[in-house]
Amino acid sequence: MHQALLLVVAIAAIYVSRYYSPLLAALGFAIIGFLASDALIPRVSQSFIKIGCFGKDLSKPGRPVIPESIGAISATVYLFIMFFYIPFLFYKYLVVITPGGGHRDASIMQSPVSDEYRFPHGKMSEYLSAVLCLQSTVLLGIADDLFDLRWRHKFFLPAVAAIPLLVVYYVDFGVTHVLIPDVIQRWLGTSKTIFNLGALYYVYMASMAIFCPNSINILAGVNGLEVGQSIVLGVIFLINDSLYLLLGNEASKEAHLFSAILIIPFLGVAFSLWKWNKWPAKVFVGDTFCYFAGMIFSVVGILGHFSKTTLIFFIPQTFNFAYSCPQLFGLVPCPRHRMPRFNEADGLLYPSRANLVEKPPKKVFVPVLKLLSSLKLIDLEVDPQTGALKSCSNMTLINLVLVWFGPTREDKLCNRILAIQFTVGLCAIVARHSIGSIIFGHDNIQFL
Ligand code: UD1
Ligand code: MG
Repeated sequence: MHQALLLVVAIAAIYVSRYYSPLLAALGFAIIGFLASDALIPRVSQSFIKIGCFGKDLSKPGRPVIPESIGAISATVYLFIMFFYIPFLFYKYLVVITPGGGHRDASIMQSPVSDEYRFPHGKMSEYLSAVLCLQSTVLLGIADDLFDLRWRHKFFLPAVAAIPLLVVYYVDFGVTHVLIPDVIQRWLGTSKTIFNLGALYYVYMASMAIFCPNSINILAGVNGLEVGQSIVLGVIFLINDSLYLLLGNEASKEAHLFSAILIIPFLGVAFSLWKWNKWPAKVFVGDTFCYFAGMIFSVVGILGHFSKTTLIFFIPQTFNFAYSCPQLFGLVPCPRHRMPRFNEADGLLYPSRANLVEKPPKKVFVPVLKLLSSLKLIDLEVDPQTGALKSCSNMTLINLVLVWFGPTREDKLCNRILAIQFTVGLCAIVARHSIGSIIFGHDNIQFL
C-alpha cells in the first residue's frame, strides 16, 4: 500500500518536473530506485549465496552466513534509473521534427517545457561519462567481490574505472588549471589568479577517483557503516548544493545542479540498501557498493570543480585513511580484518588488536607508537617487566571510538560514528564558506 502511494508520488513528480525543475524528476527517480532496489534485494539475495557470494557476520553469535555484494543490486538499479532519467533532463534539446533521412541539421527543436527548465545540452556528455564511469566501477567492484583481490591490486582499480570520465573530460572540456588562493598570490607577489597543472590535472583527478572509493571501503566492518556513511556524505553534499542553488552565481549553480542530480537518486537506492544492511544485517553491501558510492562523490567533485570541498567533506574518511597508513604500509602489522572484536559473553564490541610479538613493528615506528599511546590515539599493551610492546589497537576510526568511549553494542557504535561524521560534515560546510572565502578571497555564494 505504502509502495503504491510512493510510486504514484514518484510518477507525478517525474511528470510535472518538465514544467518546474529536473530536481523533481530526480526525486521521483530516487523513489523508484528505492522501491525497485528494496523489492529486488530480498528476492535475489539467496541466489547470491548459491553462487558463493556470502560472508560471515563476524560480530554476531555463531557468525551467521549472509549474502554479500548486495550493493551490486542497488548500483545496477541506479545505473538504469540514470538512463531513464536522460529524456527528462535533456528533453528540451531532443529533436522532435526532422526533415528525415537521419538529418538533424534542419531539424526543429521543440520544447513543451517552460524557460525555467534549463539544463545545458553540453552537460549530456558529462552526464554520460559519469554514468559510464560508474558502470565500469560496478564492473570492477564485482570482479573484486568475486575474486577477493589483494589489497595492493584493488587499491588502483578505481583509477581504471575512472578512465571513461578522464577521456571524456579531455575531449569535451580539457580545462586543467586551478585557482591560486589569494594568500599565495600575495605571498608570491603575483597577479596570476590561475595555475595550469597540465597533465598533472589528470593525475590529480585519478587520485581523487582512487581516494574516495577506497576511503569508504576501509571505514567498514560494522553493520550499516559503509552505506550509512555514504548516506551522510550524500546529505552533506546536498546541503552544500542547496546553498549554491539558492544563493550561488550562475556558473556554480550549474555545477551544483549536476551534483544534486547525481546524488538524489543515489540516496534513493542507498536508503533501500541501508534498510537491509543496518544492524542486525541481513545482507552485506560488498566492495562493489563502497567503490560505487565513493566514485559518485569523486565524479561530482571532479566534474563540478569542487574537489577541495569534496575532500573536506571526507574529513572522517581522510582521518581514517591517514590513521591507517602505518598498517597499510607495513610499519605496524595489519591483520586481514581490522573490525572490532566481538565478545559473545556480553554482546559488545571491543577494539581489535594487532599482535606486536609475532610480527614486531618497524623499529623507527616504535617511538611514534608510544607517542600515539600517550596522546590516547591508540591503546598500547606493554610488558610491565621487559617494557616490550605486546599489542596495540588496530588503527581505524572505529577502534579509536571504542578506545575513547569504551565497549559498545554494534548498532550504537555505527550510529555514534555516523553522528560524528554528520557533525564534522556540518562544520566543514560552515568552514568552507567562511575560512574558504578568506583563503580564496571570494565565495561563490552570497549570504543575504
Ligand atoms: C576492509 C578493511 C578491513 C575490514 C573490512 C570489513 C582495511 C585495510 N580493510 O577490508 O580491515 O575488516 O573492510 O568490511 O581497513 N563484515 C562483517 N560485518 C560487517 C561488514 C563486514 O562481519 O558489518 C565482514 C564479513 O565477514 C564480510 C567481510 O567483512 O564478508 C567483508 O570484508 P571486505 O569488504 O572484503 O574487506 P575489505 O574491504 O578488503
Ligand atoms: Mg570492503
